[in-house]
Amino acid sequence: MANISTRFFGLNLKSPVIAASSSMTGNAEQVIKLAEAGAGAVVLKSIFEEEIYHELQEELSLRDDLHSDPEYLDYFDYVIKQEKISKYLKLIAEVKAKTTVPIVASVNCISSGEWTLFARKLEEAGADALELNMFVSPSDFNKSSSANEQFYIETVSKVLQVVSIPVSIKISHYFSNLALMAKKLSSSGIAGITVFNRFYTPDIDVNNQKIITADVLSSPDDYYLPLRWIGILSGNVACEMAATTGIHTVETALKFLLAGASAVQIASVLYKEGPEAITRMNNGISNWMDQKGYTSLTDFRGTLSQSASSTEAWQRVQFMKYFGEKAY
Ligand SMILES: Cc1cc2nc3c(=O)[nH]c(=O)nc-3n(C[C@H](O)[C@H](O)[C@H](O)COP(=O)(O)O)c2cc1C
Repeated sequence: MANISTRFFGLNLKSPVIAASSSMTGNAEQVIKLAEAGAGAVVLKSIFEEEIYHELQEELSLRDDLHSDPEYLDYFDYVIKQEKISKYLKLIAEVKAKTTVPIVASVNCISSGEWTLFARKLEEAGADALELNMFVSPSDFNKSSSANEQFYIETVSKVLQVVSIPVSIKISHYFSNLALMAKKLSSSGIAGITVFNRFYTPDIDVNNQKIITADVLSSPDDYYLPLRWIGILSGNVACEMAATTGIHTVETALKFLLAGASAVQIASVLYKEGPEAITRMNNGISNWMDQKGYTSLTDFRGTLSQSASSTEAWQRVQFMKYFGEKAY
């Protein structure tokens, strides 16, 4: 049987199929099931700085008397943060005691100051690696792209200074020069980059003329954008790459490996099928490798990436050659 072990998050993983951060990875019981199903690693649900502050604001809205008491506010802020953080640290310790699968903590912070504190505590609790879930929306009409990009670089550098576990980053595609940004991040000392995170997205209900939430889960066709960028970036940046978004089938996972990904991170298919989706993918990858005569992922990983095959195929964006042809 083919060996499907790989390296990502700066760790040796027994499978390239990783359970991505989501509410499925927010409790110990579920994490164990994902590990038993054969996940190469489990990324825990992110701890959100925004969430912590939101909780504080909610409590304050119910307690008018507290607004004018700075001492209490300080204390309250501290207690809530401590509770959230303690719960997360407990989860890390619990899953580390129950499984040998690599456990990756995930932090989403909006200010660079808080990162450091969280990161160090997560390492102390036993996390094998850390994933930074970072997203600065490029929707501020008064902020330059370089200011946004600087925030990523500075935050990564601050975290790297205080932890010794490997640090990876999961990013969106919202950069004015994604290739250069990925290259800069990859040279910053991080172990890996995952492309591209999927976010809450607004949609419109035309019948009720209201703004609603788009589907939370991805569909199997959502993988084209990350596939292109794995193809372009892998082999051209200084760290390992992983892919996320729209990876529901064995075939799609294989496409990413051929394009150069070291691993794939899956979430939506776990909601749809349960942890068995991981077993199905592991078996499917292994069977395909047996059929092709490959014994390890390195036999074929990245053979279709831009750096190993065709620049034109990955860079082409216009449908020029189809203009004038009959169907499309
Ligand atoms: C319900 C839900 C919750 C998620 N929560 C997080 C999170 O806390 N942190 C994070 O980095 N990504 C989070 N994600 C994104 C997933 O980790 C994953 O990268 C994304 O959904 C794309 O993969 P998929 O197409 O397999 O769902 C969440 C996704 C879903 C569907």
